[in-house]
Amino acid sequence: MKHRQYHVAIVGATGAVGIEMIATLEKRRFPVGKLTLLASARSAGKALKFRGRPVVVRELTKDAFIGVDIALFSAGGSISKEYAPAAVDAGAVVVDNSSAFRMDPSVPLVVPEINAADVRHHGGIIANPNCTTAITLMALHPLHRAFGVTRIFASSYQAVSGTGAKAIEELERQVSQTVRGKPITKEVYPHQIAFNVLPHVDSFLPDGYTNEEMKMQNEGRKIMGLPAFRASVTCVRVPVFRAHSIAVSAEFKKPVSVSAALKVLKRAPGLDVVDAPSSARYPMPLNVAGKYNCEVGRLRMDCAMKNGLCFWVAGDQLLKGAALNAVQIAEVLAGRWKNRT
Ligand code: A2P
Repeated sequence: MKHRQYHVAIVGATGAVGIEMIATLEKRRFPVGKLTLLASARSAGKALKFRGRPVVVRELTKDAFIGVDIALFSAGGSISKEYAPAAVDAGAVVVDNSSAFRMDPSVPLVVPEINAADVRHHGGIIANPNCTTAITLMALHPLHRAFGVTRIFASSYQAVSGTGAKAIEELERQVSQTVRGKPITKEVYPHQIAFNVLPHVDSFLPDGYTNEEMKMQNEGRKIMGLPAFRASVTCVRVPVFRAHSIAVSAEFKKPVSVSAALKVLKRAPGLDVVDAPSSARYPMPLNVAGKYNCEVGRLRMDCAMKNGLCFWVAGDQLLKGAALNAVQIAEVLAGRWKNRT
């Protein structure tokens, strides 16, 4: 699908990720000939800016995809399941940010820096991975290529914007309620998120892990093409507005050292090494918010595991974990992908 200009649609254009998709298309100069913005009936008529001009948001309907070349979906799994087939029938290629199709064997699940070539096998839909998984793999996959990963133990520190625009408002409101000594009101999370941490992201499975936690193993296997990969993860929601961080202990087949790992990570695309702990320099959400590249640091040999390496990786989950990755997939489709950020 190599045209000069593309008709791009964004489903969920008014959401936390949708807004970033619009900005990312503009910043990366994606050749957008026409932009169609779709959301719920509540947003129809609202205007959002693209290249300095207002674009009116339309209500999502099944006939909204006529003439669309690429449809970027980020309005939740049930919307994707209902409307992505209509977009494909209309001739569009769907890049879906939800979990609806990720584990479907006929749907490529892509982080372009890792498996851009998988895009070729699409049958109309390409899935964007879970945000925490994508950010972790930006550091883990280069290490895997060098040393062969067998398993990881990890904990995530996930920002509220991963839940969407309403969760950002919830944190702002609860911070203000707390400092004013007012009663806390909760709409999004089951507990107060301001000045708290919740070991609960997504729904619980019968074995006690959450869906979000198992995405690392399931999606990690598919993206890295590594069916034996194991990941034991605890996902935690923290009162951070933007950017996820993940503490990882990884076990490798081949002997690993901090210096060899640093050499590999310094060459990895889409990743910056920030690792000078003696001068208090390490990746932090405030430093990666709004940034395309993820950051990795705190490298050390794992003292509890043979051939184990610990590291800390942080990335903007609205960008590399969602909008940027989706636009990069569109760049692969358009033959514009250069493995750069
Ligand atoms: P709207 O703003 O009109 O509700 P977030 O993840 O930040 O909460 O954003 C979700 C996005 O998905 C928003 O753009 C939202 O539009 C859109 N959305 C939610 N429900 C629907 C629906 N039933 N039809 C179309 N878009 C929807």
